[in-house]
Amino acid sequence: MTTDSNRVIIFDTTLRDGEQSPGASMNLAEKLEVARALERLGVDVIEAGFPIASPGDFEAVQAIAKQTTRARIAGLARSLTKDIDRAAEAVAPAGDRARIHVFLATSAIHRQYKLGKAKDQIIKQAAESVRYARTLCDDIEFSPEDASRTEPEFLAEVVQAVIEAGAKTVNIPDTVGYAYPSDFADLIGYLNQHVTNIKQAVISVHCHNDLGLAVSNSLSAVRAGARQIECTINGIGERAGNCALEEVVMAMRVRKDQFGDMQTGIQAEHLYATSRLVQSVTGLPLQRNKAIVGDNAFAHESGIHQHGVIKNPECYEIMTPQSVGVPATNMVLGKHSGRHALAQRLEELGFTMSEDDLQKVFDAFKDLADRKKDVYDGDLMALVEQEVRGRSLSIWSLDFLQTSSGSHAVATATVTLSKDGEAVTDAATGDGPVDAVINTIDRICGVAGTLEDYRLRSVTGGRDAQGEVSIRVRFANDNVVGGKGLSTDVVEASCKAYLDAVNRASYMNAKLDYRSPEGTQP
Ligand code: KIV
Ligand code: ZN
Repeated sequence: MTTDSNRVIIFDTTLRDGEQSPGASMNLAEKLEVARALERLGVDVIEAGFPIASPGDFEAVQAIAKQTTRARIAGLARSLTKDIDRAAEAVAPAGDRARIHVFLATSAIHRQYKLGKAKDQIIKQAAESVRYARTLCDDIEFSPEDASRTEPEFLAEVVQAVIEAGAKTVNIPDTVGYAYPSDFADLIGYLNQHVTNIKQAVISVHCHNDLGLAVSNSLSAVRAGARQIECTINGIGERAGNCALEEVVMAMRVRKDQFGDMQTGIQAEHLYATSRLVQSVTGLPLQRNKAIVGDNAFAHESGIHQHGVIKNPECYEIMTPQSVGVPATNMVLGKHSGRHALAQRLEELGFTMSEDDLQKVFDAFKDLADRKKDVYDGDLMALVEQEVRGRSLSIWSLDFLQTSSGSHAVATATVTLSKDGEAVTDAATGDGPVDAVINTIDRICGVAGTLEDYRLRSVTGGRDAQGEVSIRVRFANDNVVGGKGLSTDVVEASCKAYLDAVNRASYMNAKLDYRSPEGTQP
């Protein structure tokens, strides 16, 4: 890890805290793809999961530790021997890039209600667990959970004790998103002043976004001496999410006047593609006006703005779309473009893929070009997501779809799906064509999903634009799963999205919640 005191370490927890977002579960192949994208982006630490939570989590952390080459790989553990053992085993293939992230709640409310432990017991358990973890791994991070609501004097005692026990990073989580920027900066200043061994560790912050202050709190903490920011792509995470990586990084870059020589190692030109990838694999779409990577982040609607931007982009743009990798909006390919032109454009957009995958994308591109006059970069990115990522998950695939509906007609759908080479056809009615399609898929697949969220966005402008449907579905056992579908026909896009969710549901496995009390058997 860097010893440069101006370097702000970016610790990405998309695969751990981000995955805690309802419906955001990712399978092994998807996690590996995100991990590779995070390395390309230049993050310093990837928190790959909570290994004791489930066999799937363990396997993912271990595979990521094996298959990455540059970033540190962290595994989360409660302050319990069995958690630490499991985390150590999972991160071991990363060798000297391995990190164990141990946590224990410290606030009065958590001590009383969650843990039933007194202050001295907390200090003892925290220090002992760090000391034990250090026997298995050189790089230990400790988090006093709910630090921002912990009495500062007690927090300082805990931090002092874990550094003495060997923690190299002390992370100060604003677990419930309660902190206020100036108070949070004061807290970091307080620790810097009152923890006598603080220089032996890096101070990190981990801010949740319940009041929309996660990025502000993280930036204030950096100005007060923190040198690691924990964050997620698109700010995904529990409840209102975590500090958004793209926002915090670009704020530091664009407003470098506020941060002196401090900088991160992020290659900002990969931010957009990484954001798209995470949207795709989690099925969590962004609001159009999301800072940095939202569809409208660089869109200028009013004539005055457009005029100003044409004369000099700096009139209304504080950073260029290219600097964060937003693709050009001009038409790039058409019906007569060949495979070579497509491959070249995909490479320019940052996609490297096998010949087989390229052929799949090319076939889908030809199909799309028949239905749509102009094919934009956004269309290509969506096609890659559908063809390469979507297919790897397919259990059921769509062969045929027909619907009929109208203002005074009962909506009906006929669907043919196939699984293991066997086709099944069925039909059902519903409240509108999308409901009819979902009812038919439920009959064929023997599931009963409840639609919790449904969003439709057009990938580009124009009447012939592709519609991208993102949904969240609740299945039996309260499994909430995301799904995405893409087509120039929005009913077909809805059908594909629902089928994607059905296919993903079978990959989900029950998990231990990382907040379950220390001492409770998983
Ligand atoms: O929000 C939190 O407190 C956490 C810890 C495990 C660091 O995610
Ligand atoms: Zn968290």
